[in-house]
Formats: sequence, C-alpha cells, structure tokens
Amino acid sequence: MSKKLYIKTYGCQMNVYDTVRMHDVMAPLGYTASDSYEDADMVILNTCHIREKADEKVYSDLGRIRKEKDKKKAGGDKMLVAVGGCVGQAEGAEIIKRAPYVDMVFGPQSYHQLPEMVTKAIRDNGGVVELDFAPVDKFDRLPEVSNSQGVSAFLSVQEGCDKFCSFCVVPYTRGAEYSRPFNDVLVEARKLVDGGAKEITLLGQNVNAYHGSVSLAGLIDALAQINGLERIRYMTSHPRDMSDDLIAIHGSEKKLMPFLHLPVQSGSDEILKKMNRKHKAELYFDIVERLRKVRPDIAMSSDFIVGFPGETDENFEDTMNLIRKIGYASVYSFKYSQRPGTPAAVDENQVPELVKQERLARLQALVHEQQTAFNQSFVGKTIKVLFDRDGKFDGQLLGKGEHMQSVYVNGGGAVRGTIADVKVTGGFLNSVTGEVVR
Ligand code: 5AD
Ligand code: SF4
Repeated sequence: MSKKLYIKTYGCQMNVYDTVRMHDVMAPLGYTASDSYEDADMVILNTCHIREKADEKVYSDLGRIRKEKDKKKAGGDKMLVAVGGCVGQAEGAEIIKRAPYVDMVFGPQSYHQLPEMVTKAIRDNGGVVELDFAPVDKFDRLPEVSNSQGVSAFLSVQEGCDKFCSFCVVPYTRGAEYSRPFNDVLVEARKLVDGGAKEITLLGQNVNAYHGSVSLAGLIDALAQINGLERIRYMTSHPRDMSDDLIAIHGSEKKLMPFLHLPVQSGSDEILKKMNRKHKAELYFDIVERLRKVRPDIAMSSDFIVGFPGETDENFEDTMNLIRKIGYASVYSFKYSQRPGTPAAVDENQVPELVKQERLARLQALVHEQQTAFNQSFVGKTIKVLFDRDGKFDGQLLGKGEHMQSVYVNGGGAVRGTIADVKVTGGFLNSVTGEVVR
C-alpha cells in the first residue's frame, strides 16, 4: 500500500540533493512523495544549521506538524516525524527532549539507514537517534538514483570540509572532506542524463577540492563527453582550491557554463585572517583576472558576511571596494551569526546588531545596482535558456540562461524541458524577461 512521504528542504543545494536521495531510499518501502505535510504518513525536515534563523525555523515548523500528527492520532492513524540534516547532526537527542513528538533524528551522513530507522521507530514508538558520520558508507549503500530530477539535476560529488573557517558549522555537521569515487560519479551522471537531465550541477561544500582519481577539472572533462549532457556547473568553491587546470577548463570546455559561485566572505585581509580563510584578497583578484582572461564573459557570484567579530568601518570599506572592483552578477550576503561550537562565536569583539544591519543594507544596495546592471546588459541580445519549470503566472515559463540568469517568458509551453533561444526584452533585479525566438 502506498504511503505518503513529505520532505521539507532547508538551506543549501546539498540538502536538495539529499532530499531526492531520501525519496530514493524510501521508495522500496512504499513511500511516495507528497507536497504537503497534511495527511502525510511520514514527515522529514531536512534541516540547515548554518545560521541562527535557519535553526529557529525548524522548531516553528515542528510546532505546526505536531498539530497535524495529533489530528491523525485522534483519527487512529500514525504520522512519523523525523528531523534530518545539519540541525539533526548538531543537536541530536536534544531535539527529542525539546520536542518529544519527534520520532527520529539523523544527520546528513546517515539517511541511507532510513529503512532501519523507520522499522525501529514504529516498533519502539520513536526515540531513534542516528548520527553516524561516514559518507563512504552512505554513498556505498544508497540505491541507484531512481527518481528523475528533470532537465536540470544536482549530483553530490564531495562532502564535508577541512577548512575550519572560524564562523562555520559545516566541518562539525557534515564532517571531514570526502570525495566520491570518479566511476561512481560517472555512472550516476549517465543515469541522470538517461532520465532526461541536460544540465548537471556538481555539488560539494568544497566542490573544487574534489580529488577522486582525477581533479574536478578532470571530472568535468569526463562528464563533458556524455552525449545529451549539454551544461555543467559546480558549486560551492573555495579560492584556495581554484587550481590551474580548473581555471583553464573554463576557457576550453564549452559545456562548462560561464558562471562561478566563488565565495570570498570579506575584502579585508585582516578579517580574512580572523576568519581563518587562509588567503588574502589579492589571491581572489588574481583568480578572477585569470578566469576572465580565459572566459571574458564569466559571471561571478559570491557570499559575504558583514559584522564578523572585530570588523571595523575600514575593514567593511575593503569589502565594498572588493565588490566594486569585481562586479557581481549575484551575491548572497549575511549578517554574522554566532554559531555554538565555532571559534568566532566566543570572540569578545562582537559587532552590535545595528552596525551589522546598517552594513548589510549598504552592501546590498551596491550589489543590487550591480545585479540589475548585469541583467540589463542582456536586453536586446539573444541568449540560450534551459526551461525547467513553470513561472508564477499562468502560461509563464521559467528557465536559466548560461550565465545563470533567471529568465521568464510568456506562452512558450512548447519549449518546456528544452534549451531555446530567447530574445531578452527586460532586465530587472533578479531576472530577465524575453520572447522565445526559436
Ligand atoms: N554567520 C553568517 N553567515 C554564515 N555563513 C556561514 N556561516 C555563517 C555565520 N556563522 C555564510 C557564508 C557561507 C554561506 C553558505 O553562509 O557566507 O559561504
Ligand atoms: Fe546548511 Fe551548511 Fe548544512 Fe548546507 S551544509 S544545510 S548550508 S549547514
């Protein structure tokens, strides 16, 4: 008998990938995907621990789910509630203490054990906590990908992080750096392409540190040989791992898209040092210059943290100047958030909330100008767009340009799932609009 499984995904693309794989693991047990927690037989929250806000969201969602669970119980039915992902890993059994109606807690490296966990949770009436930490096991024991991800697919090739930036929880929640074997990645990529993928985004917390039997550049080169695969992307990268061969392949491999998310976090060497980023701003400028030499139209994207402990006005200006100098197509910016267990959280020089807010607003105003200018630079041009989903309005389609722009067209139903030529008619803060010409 078919049972309904609802998984809510928070945070990064790694979690989006993990959610797809959890569905793969649960399918043999008769669970099919549901898009709402109401009436679901099982709910999994695939959580994110990166900033305080993401954390709080989980508990407020749990409150709502509890009501639904109680309703089902009153009707004589059961609902299993699980907290997976990075909050699960970080808080473990604490979650069940705080929210006893949660039946299972597990981390990002143990979801291949979901079938055993479910059996145990049903038998023992909850109380299952599984925080194993070996990605090798996970990938070895996951079933082959079975759910098609459509024309644009994610593929995790690397997990974890050994960099220990002083603000970040990832080394603690996702564990040490691990690269999946080259062959396993190839097999999975071919399956995704057989399932209809035209674009694959290779994922990893530190994806450019990938070291199977080949480097990330070697992996991209091999994937580019797959017929039917037309676009390759990767994220997220660290400046220290932008190797020569990786920079070079941006110039030589046409399937590798001209867009790179390369977080720098700050433009101040003083702050980069305190962040334990292990590089200076100069290295970042040098990388971008070399990338632009081989691929002049490459669009750059980054993450920034404002109000890191000890950040002065002058340090912040260095960040603003870096942004002016690089010119971004997109930016994700955050106020520094104290994460338990990380070195920066106990730094005495925390920056006042108001200062953080003011800096974030200034940074975002600058970035918004750049983003808008970037999107407007395409007006009048014809670009190639992969249409992978419906837009917000009736008859509207949403796709991605090669430079990762979000592209909206009206009434182009026939091009859904294909790469089409679009003449751009408007450029805005977060998207461009256009008309399908072919
Ligand atoms: N506070 C604010 N932002 C953070 N990030 C990671 N940890 C923190 C933190 N403690 C941001 C970084 C990272 C992105 C995924 O989240 O910019 O690149
Ligand atoms: Fe969030 Fe990082 Fe975990 Fe992704 S890996 S879900 S960004 S804490």
